Amino acid sequence: MSYELTKWNKAKQAIIEAKSIDEVKAIRDKAEALRAYAKQAGESLKSQNDLCEIKLRAERRAGEMIKESPDLKPGKKKQTSHDVRLEDMGISYMESHRWQKIADIEPEKFESLINEIDKEKEELTESFILRSKDKIDKVIKKEEFEEEHGLSMDFLRHADVWNFPDRGDFDGLSNLPTDMVMNVVWHYSKENDLVGDCFAGSGMTKFVCDKLKRKCVLSDINPTQDFVIKNDIKDGLPKEFKDLDLIFLDPPYWNMVKYGLNSLDKLSLKGFLESMVVLAHNCKKSLKPKGKVAFVIMPVKHNGEYIDLGFECFNIFKKHFKPIQRLCVPLVKMPHPTKEGTFIALLRDLIIMEKGGD
Ligand SMILES: C[S@@+](CC[C@H](N)C(=O)[O-])C[C@H]1O[C@@H](n2cnc3c(N)ncnc32)[C@H](O)[C@@H]1O
Repeated sequence: MSYELTKWNKAKQAIIEAKSIDEVKAIRDKAEALRAYAKQAGESLKSQNDLCEIKLRAERRAGEMIKESPDLKPGKKKQTSHDVRLEDMGISYMESHRWQKIADIEPEKFESLINEIDKEKEELTESFILRSKDKIDKVIKKEEFEEEHGLSMDFLRHADVWNFPDRGDFDGLSNLPTDMVMNVVWHYSKENDLVGDCFAGSGMTKFVCDKLKRKCVLSDINPTQDFVIKNDIKDGLPKEFKDLDLIFLDPPYWNMVKYGLNSLDKLSLKGFLESMVVLAHNCKKSLKPKGKVAFVIMPVKHNGEYIDLGFECFNIFKKHFKPIQRLCVPLVKMPHPTKEGTFIALLRDLIIMEKGGD
């Protein structure tokens, strides 16, 4: 056995046999100091990587030991003068966090990550291992989600700007991305909840509710499907809109698109906003306590005037509901250069509000 290999096996054995975090940390610190020295001295990448491997193995073992000792959580106050804290051992909060993360990697996966690097050509680093762990976690999370819900997780959004590359897999005539409605229903209702949509249009909300196992009731002034109740919101909401958990509203953005006789787009701006006042009141009546309303709206321009319908409707609904989230869901369109000071309108708001507990 070569001298190098003997040293390596000894280090590995010392990590396994170490009884305390102090001992493992000492091995880790030594390996790191030697690695830094080897790098500075221009020694081979292989030697630097071997030392890094010892450091990582020691960090992994230290991470395991920290996890096994609840009294050693970072920031823990000393109860008695004999108590030892991580800080006393020279281990910072971030180090403890990173080492525990390394310790969380499955043993076979850790070995294969260490071995997948070509030690003669690529640099082994702690961040490579941590980044790989994040990737593994994402894959596991995705697989678990898909198994539990029978759905691809790709539709889910986690930030407050929802960008969608296309209109998605609903084949009805709708301008909304299917995944936008999927997210609204997913985040703001539960399985078997009852969802209402009084501007049903193409019926996308039913498509989404079927997929996500919610019940739904839909209406529109111009029903295009037999499951949509004919109803003009100016006359109130249909009687079937009762004890709802969520109401999804995608009204005409005042006069931006023409929807036919008696549609809201035929009203003056004042009339449109008044109809929103009545709608907000009726939505509140139709929802269960703590029920949610989600409305999609965007600014319009009329006779050179900029009318921010988002702000207007926000203020109207706020009289009956508690705002809980404003999301930005830009239109799916490619902007192109325009005259200075004018912009292609992509800004679309999705406002979520909650009814009180009654
Ligand atoms: C923006 S579209 C909704 C599109 C729908 N979310 C979809 O995915 O197909 C607005 C809808 O409001 C309906 N509408 C307009 N005025 C109405 C009114 N007074 N009462 C009820 N529905 C109305 C229109 O017929 C149109 O279907």
